Amino acid sequence: MKTYSIVLLKGDGIGPEIVEQAVKVLKKAGEKYDFSIDFKEALLGGSAIDATGSPLPQATIDACKAADSTLLGAVGGPKWDTLPGNQRPEKGLLGIREALGLFANLRPAVIFPELKEASPLRADIIGDKLDIMVVRELTGGIYFGERGRKTVDGQEAAYDTEMYSVPEIERIARVAFDMARKRGKRLCSVDKANVLESSRLWRATVARIGAEEYPDVEITNMYVDNCAMQLVRNPGQFDVIVTSNIFGDILSDEASMISGSIGMLASASLSAGKAGLYEPIHGSAPDIAGTGKANPLATILSGAMMLKYSLDQPEASEAIEKAVSKVLKVARTPDIYVEGLRKVSCDEMGDLVCEALE
Ligand code: IPM
Ligand code: MG
Repeated sequence: MKTYSIVLLKGDGIGPEIVEQAVKVLKKAGEKYDFSIDFKEALLGGSAIDATGSPLPQATIDACKAADSTLLGAVGGPKWDTLPGNQRPEKGLLGIREALGLFANLRPAVIFPELKEASPLRADIIGDKLDIMVVRELTGGIYFGERGRKTVDGQEAAYDTEMYSVPEIERIARVAFDMARKRGKRLCSVDKANVLESSRLWRATVARIGAEEYPDVEITNMYVDNCAMQLVRNPGQFDVIVTSNIFGDILSDEASMISGSIGMLASASLSAGKAGLYEPIHGSAPDIAGTGKANPLATILSGAMMLKYSLDQPEASEAIEKAVSKVLKVARTPDIYVEGLRKVSCDEMGDLVCEALE
């Protein structure tokens, strides 16, 4: 029997309770599909700051590098909000992405048929389906560029730098083109090439990779401001979106909101190798931590993505997705609750998905 090693970064707020549900489901999937998982825990974010003084201890980097993959809950909370920028929990998240070379962030925005009413957009705008894959560059651009403070005309000023090299753009473009090829064969590259030099290089590089290596994939280009508008005007026009770190951060939140169920959406962060880091796209929701109200499905579905992209267990992955759909027909956590169904806690939701696994 195949055994995988997985590091759990439970994190802060609702992180521990949602990761626990995903662990239950992954174990159950292992029983059904004949694999086992060795889970190890490591610290990241606020809980790491409290225990070690650092949001990303070296031991965490070492553990993740040695493992087949990593599952993350969420980090951050009001307790650590007043710390200086480089000591905040978010720094741990950015740091682990960098340390593991996780340059490609896949953020699917899908509407689950069972949750159609949940979208804040009108039914006629949504149409029959919403299935967008946002591919966000994750280890470059302005979040990692040179930054600092200086004095300009005797006044304090601050700056951050957006920079992309050709190889950085090429590798994220290839991930996005490969993804488009497996889906609707349409790739929309989003930039601000009417203003930014880095965007002009981005656009030209994506076009060249497309022409040389992916002639079967249709490329369109869109300015980021227009894309923000098009996402709420006609979201059905998008298949795969590829964009920079900061634009992807913003647009993926917007796209997820269209689905109306931020508690349902998973994500994968991938490197050049097989290992990845999988996490729900929502945050640590400190206000409901420990109340049992958290929705564990995004984390459970992140576990399913891990089985598919990092562990070569596509059948088990699909079985988890099916189990989630099945459970949604009868039971809901409070965030997606509708009259007439069973209202369940985080823990009960985890148990129900386990029971529904076939
Ligand atoms: C995300 C988050 C992070 C990011 C923050 C917490 C640093 O917003 O994963 O999208 O901006 O990358
Ligand atoms: Mg974000």
